[in-house]
Amino acid sequence: MGFTALSALLLFAVALKGDAANRHAAASPQIALRIALGKQLFNDPRLSADGKISCASCHIPAKAYTDGRRVAIGVYGRTGTRNTPSLAAIEISKNVSFFWEGRRTTLEQAVIDPLTNPMEMGLQDKTELIQKVEQNSGRLIVFAQAFPEAKVIGAEQVSAALTDYVRSLNSPESAYDRYTLQGDRRPLNPQAQFGLALFRGKGRCADCHLLAGSPVLLTDHAYHRTGGGLNAISQYLPSLTEAVIQRSLQGEAIGNRVATHEDEAQLGRFNVTRDPADIGLFRTPSLRGVALTAPYMHDGSIPTLEDAIDQEVYYRGLQAGYPLNMSVEERTALKAFLETL
Ligand code: HEC
Ligand code: HEC
Repeated sequence: MGFTALSALLLFAVALKGDAANRHAAASPQIALRIALGKQLFNDPRLSADGKISCASCHIPAKAYTDGRRVAIGVYGRTGTRNTPSLAAIEISKNVSFFWEGRRTTLEQAVIDPLTNPMEMGLQDKTELIQKVEQNSGRLIVFAQAFPEAKVIGAEQVSAALTDYVRSLNSPESAYDRYTLQGDRRPLNPQAQFGLALFRGKGRCADCHLLAGSPVLLTDHAYHRTGGGLNAISQYLPSLTEAVIQRSLQGEAIGNRVATHEDEAQLGRFNVTRDPADIGLFRTPSLRGVALTAPYMHDGSIPTLEDAIDQEVYYRGLQAGYPLNMSVEERTALKAFLETL
């Protein structure tokens, strides 16, 4: 057996066995190869400017593919402005937009951006990316196997492999999934069941973190005001929004702008639409695996799950004009429920 066929087979075996054991891999050997290739790329620090940062540096499997930091730290120790979101829920919660303000509408675009983001992997451009990819000769063979129709390796193939890998990262079946999908009452103890009732009823959490979908989505894919508030920037909002408009007219990528300007990052959805009504709006995150993804919110400003619940109870009620009064027991029950997701 030639080296090429052998390496393809080995990769196939790895793909089926690895943490990404998944449905479509079995369906198509080609997809299994792409997932295996995507996994290699995801874990390869040589694809970064300083050779030290891979996707997995910030998206750590044991933390539902988050990093446990307030905001992300990329090449040369550069500190960004945003909290790293989970990748484990992307496929299962049927995300239709990506990043906290939804600046990308396809996963193919979202997986390639970090490579050239100055605060993340810091490459100059896609040409440099392809040079780095080609330095690994063994990998060229794998590319040829995974993309037999492609004449050269381009950013498009890198993106396709990363996309297939990220889509395969479904979070494991949660206690709540077993409760709803299998009709098994045991995974939710009475306290968690009380929490579920509050989440759906009195707390109105499910208005945005939808309990619809099977498995459950826990997001409405919409944008809402942040509880963190705009206090820090409200003083000079007019000049700030004007600066954003100027820079986007000059064609500066939103992702690079928000990663380097903390104040602009706080403007949220406005960065995409430039509509004043969207100032300070952020995408509702899916709460799948939320117990593993501290700290919380787009800017990582909330350190613990208890604090996040306190803030959401206080702020969402206030905002919607139904101030919520929740006892310690009720908040503890909400937490017990969130831990089953
Ligand atoms: C330095 C840390 C860091 C690195 C390295 C990194 N990411 Fe991320 N990732 C983030 C942060 C922070 C965000 C949120 C950025 C924002 O919303 O502005 C994010 C967002 C994403 C999203 C969007 C998720 C969603 O639900 O909206 C995807 C997909 C993603 N990253 C994939 C990758 C891939 C693939 C790589 C490697 C090519 C990578 N990331 C490298 C920190 C990182
Ligand atoms: C109006 C829509 C809305 C309602 C109602 C709502 N949330 Fe949220 N939730 C959001 C948005 C938007 C964010 C992200 C805010 C940010 O990043 O600043 C969020 C963030 C969170 C987070 C942090 C998740 C993370 O990954 O960082 C938790 C936990 C949470 N909500 C729980 C709740 C609970 C519990 C309730 C009910 C008391 C609730 N939410 C009600 C929209 C809502």
